[in-house]
Amino acid sequence: MLHSRGWLAAAAVVACGCSSSPTDMARDLHSFATPTARVTHVGLDLELDFGQRVARGHADLRVARQGGSELCLDVAGLQIAKVEALAADGAASPRSFALATAVPHLGQKLTVTLRDGDAQVRVHYATAPDAAALQWLTPEQTHDHAAPFLYTQGQAILTRTWIPLQDSPGVRITYDARIKAPAGLTVLMSAERKGQDADGAFRFAMPQPIPPYLIALACGKLAFQGIGERCGVWAEPNLLPRAASELEEMEKMLLSCEQAFGAYRWGRYEVLILPPAFPFGGMENPRLTFATPTILAGDKSLVGLIAHELAHSWSGNLVTNATWRDFWLNEGCTVFLENRIMELVFGKERAAMEFALGLEGLEDELKELPPQDQVLHIDLAGRNPDDNMTAVPYEKGAAFLHRLEQLYGRAKFERFLTGYFDAHAFQSITTDQFLTWLDRNLLESDRTKAAQLDIDRWVRQPGLPADAVRPTGDAFGAVEAARRAWLEGKIKAAALDTQLWTPHHWLRFLSGMPQDIDPQRLGELDETFHLSETGNSEIFVAWAKVAIRRGYAHVDERVESFLSNVGRRKYVKPLYEALMASAEGRARAKRIYQEARPRYHAVTTRTLDEIVK
Ligand code: BES
Ligand code: ZN
Repeated sequence: MLHSRGWLAAAAVVACGCSSSPTDMARDLHSFATPTARVTHVGLDLELDFGQRVARGHADLRVARQGGSELCLDVAGLQIAKVEALAADGAASPRSFALATAVPHLGQKLTVTLRDGDAQVRVHYATAPDAAALQWLTPEQTHDHAAPFLYTQGQAILTRTWIPLQDSPGVRITYDARIKAPAGLTVLMSAERKGQDADGAFRFAMPQPIPPYLIALACGKLAFQGIGERCGVWAEPNLLPRAASELEEMEKMLLSCEQAFGAYRWGRYEVLILPPAFPFGGMENPRLTFATPTILAGDKSLVGLIAHELAHSWSGNLVTNATWRDFWLNEGCTVFLENRIMELVFGKERAAMEFALGLEGLEDELKELPPQDQVLHIDLAGRNPDDNMTAVPYEKGAAFLHRLEQLYGRAKFERFLTGYFDAHAFQSITTDQFLTWLDRNLLESDRTKAAQLDIDRWVRQPGLPADAVRPTGDAFGAVEAARRAWLEGKIKAAALDTQLWTPHHWLRFLSGMPQDIDPQRLGELDETFHLSETGNSEIFVAWAKVAIRRGYAHVDERVESFLSNVGRRKYVKPLYEALMASAEGRARAKRIYQEARPRYHAVTTRTLDEIVK
């Protein structure tokens, strides 16, 4: 029941003339889909052409109809060759279709005219060479330099650039696929592997209904190593040993999350390490998280990211935001779960440090964000959902859940979340549906406690409410004291007692560095701790941000090689911003960007074009 309500709630009507829809319900402003003809299953048959950088073939769409004679799909940049209806016996007959003019951010509405009884439609198409969801990489852009590589990125609204479908997170679909690739390359998808056909094509099936942004594919020269019973890691062969040892704790993370929040419902959980151009840290594609190689620090210090993507198997993939306004439901809840997994696997102290660093990041970002972008239930009308990828849905969202946990106690709150995942499994829900559920299943149990909580303030107003839970303990006290003593000249860098510092301590040490620090003092730190050469990407970026702004030239070469190689937006954005702050830096930024831009993903260039141009 809730399933169909969830979908109706997400039905798109704005910018779509297809038909009318409920007016008082939340709508997905980022899709042309309408509820009267709804896609329920996608059957893909594609051939990957690395020479042309095109995927071509067809998508079979099973359609559930409620009176509608028009099927409204989302597409962007696709070449549509023809559309057919498929009869039960597989016989194909042509159907007429219309492609509307493109709408900014959204792409085009593809309207297929259905006849009575049409329940399956085949769209023959090819992707554009610059399709935003697809990144085609040369062998030089991979770790082993041995073969080309392709991967897809669907979230938030990029799936429509490689598959014609109803690209709304409220329209859940099952899928299967047959993918042909050049000989010697392995194809992986966010689905169960079903082996290879006689012609070498790879087969996949995802029998559970997922939002379309979770359909994902990767193709390259890849090898696999199992970790525990249900987990494992994929990477290019020469990177695999490093990847497998970094992610040794995967199965333990999975077991911990199950212990706290209920059964893992997706069968296997594997991670694919992508080439460094990947614009994100991680992407929670079901059964197969995609991850940046920059998490391979050598000491497991950055595996919180895997805990995060794994946690999405509950918050995000099992229970999904119905529209991109509700994105905080995915990410806030996931950051909360991530922290719990980190506590269970790596202990309270590490979890507390990560919590504190997250909150610090939020408070820094709140100083810069306009008020309308500081609310959880954000208004994204006319905007790209990507604009909401700030610390707000992540850290403010998590802070809201931490506050609920503090009020009602851990045991009760964990039971509440487990029940929430269970009751909404494989459904997409809106913020209002979440809040109603929260009220009935947690707040109602103790109205005195609920009275201490201003929900409207948390969800619909800017800023971080004053009752946000603050880090307890003094994890970073020694770091603060050490920085102060060194800044005041009381001790030399060499005398700093950093023996027991973890990368988290270093991050705190660097994030508190004064904006006007003397570059010579940076030199003293660098000579002592070799920060410009660190293999920890988080520490490097934190260090380089300060070093670039203060004109500490020794870091320049490494910054340049980092920017030429890594495309992770969270890292390259602040580095380019730091460069753009001075006249010499601007010239360098432009030169580096001009050279590196063709190797960045569309998600990253969209952001960087605004900064560097
Ligand atoms: N689902 C997100 C990535 C995403 C969000 C892609 C919105 C496109 C649109 C993923 O789970 C994520 O949050 N990744 C973070 C890492 C995480 C540890 C905060 C990232 O990539 O930095
Ligand atoms: Zn996430």
